[in-house]
Amino acid sequence: MRIWMIGAGYVGLTSGTCLANMGHQVCCYDISAARIAQLERFDIPIYEPGLETAMREAVDAGKLRFSSLLKGGGIMDADAVFIAVGTPSGRDGSIDLSQVMTAAQQIAPHLKRGALVIIKSTVVVGTARRVRELIARERGAFDIRVASNPEFLREGSALKDFLSPDRIVIGADDARARNALRAIYRPFEKTGVPVVTTTTGNAELIKYAANAFLALKIGFVNDVANLCEMAGGDIGDVMHGIGLDGRIGRSFLMPGPGFGGSCFPKDTRAFAATGRQFGAPQKLIETLIDRNEQRKVLLARRILKEAKLVSGSRIAVLGLAFKANTDDVRESAALTLVPILQQAGMQVAVHDPRAASNARRYVSDVKWASNPYDACNGAAAAVILTEWDDYRRLDMARLARSLSGKTLFDYRNLFDPRSVTRYGLRYVSLGRPAAIVHQRAGVSSLDSWDRRVAAPGHA
Ligand code: UDX
Repeated sequence: MRIWMIGAGYVGLTSGTCLANMGHQVCCYDISAARIAQLERFDIPIYEPGLETAMREAVDAGKLRFSSLLKGGGIMDADAVFIAVGTPSGRDGSIDLSQVMTAAQQIAPHLKRGALVIIKSTVVVGTARRVRELIARERGAFDIRVASNPEFLREGSALKDFLSPDRIVIGADDARARNALRAIYRPFEKTGVPVVTTTTGNAELIKYAANAFLALKIGFVNDVANLCEMAGGDIGDVMHGIGLDGRIGRSFLMPGPGFGGSCFPKDTRAFAATGRQFGAPQKLIETLIDRNEQRKVLLARRILKEAKLVSGSRIAVLGLAFKANTDDVRESAALTLVPILQQAGMQVAVHDPRAASNARRYVSDVKWASNPYDACNGAAAAVILTEWDDYRRLDMARLARSLSGKTLFDYRNLFDPRSVTRYGLRYVSLGRPAAIVHQRAGVSSLDSWDRRVAAPGHA
């Protein structure tokens, strides 16, 4: 099938590349000629493992090309056009659909009769219908069908998520649209991937409800981690114990410094705004949004309190990306924590294996360290915010030597506490006994931890 992808960002590029490698003839369009020129040189503006190789493969096979021209690029030959542009948050949390609407308006005059427009961007319920009406107004006829096909791609594993999806959601309001969209994903159906065939409105709701539910899981784990700290429990054991219940599931139960990224914060806000708009308040999600923001602030204050820092102390912040395997810093914990530490008079040194250059837009007056040990050099405390493998492999003896103070805050629970404390470090992690020992007694002894049996895999 001849497919166009409008928007060569993270979702458009990943989806376009994968569709090309499935055998479709794909053109990725972007309004920015500079970005298209960049892509033609395989200079990819995002860090996504495997993407460059997959792109080269598709281009070499003659299946993928790029264009900054609609008519000049041949969009009138397209059978299907995906819209994969940004939907940023507006002031009240509702999403700004202007890029989607502008894209629809711009492509409308060039589409061939009967072409299928598919909304890939995350949009609120009712958008596909609005797009269909807008295109009909522009063309003077309802001869273009509009479908909804939300993405469930995680940054850092987007190719895998596209190629081995848990499900594919096909949202269409008529049989022709449904069949055309199903045809694009036919190879998946043969492999047994569940295909949810539904209306455009349901597809739009599925995307938000899925992300809101996953975000709720994280918020819940983080609250239970707080309880474990106060009650002397171990979040690793508790989550292991509940995750084995098939109705709960084992994934997405890791405590952390609060969720971030380009999706969860924005999607939960949009879901809550949609609930308000339709008179069906999503109170759980409203509370979750607040709790998640507060968590980042409280964890910053906890560093100041527990490390007993004085003004001018240096703190090393390890991890600026909102999670590992991405260079994306949008709504990452670091963007909240670093300014709070600075306002408290701390000098902050930062390190991230991938995300430092993106973080420079948001973070200033810090020391940019080229490795974690350099960041920790002379620091009174260090805090791990991103679960990079580089940090899992830290040489703890070297880290302990670099730090002048002796507290390591691990807000990703990367280590078995004993593997840190044996180097003379105080170790403060989330929802585990080590934290409670420090909090209550202010000592570095881990006796209470040592008396417990640490189950494998909790590090
Ligand atoms: C998410 C969804 O997973 C994906 O389906 C959607 O389409 C886009 O949004 P992404 O934002 O790339 O993907 O990241 P994800 O891996 O889902 O993590 C989101 C946030 O939750 C991160 O800040 C991560 O650190 C945090 N998280 C995740 C936890 O704190 N604990 C967990 O157990 C899982």
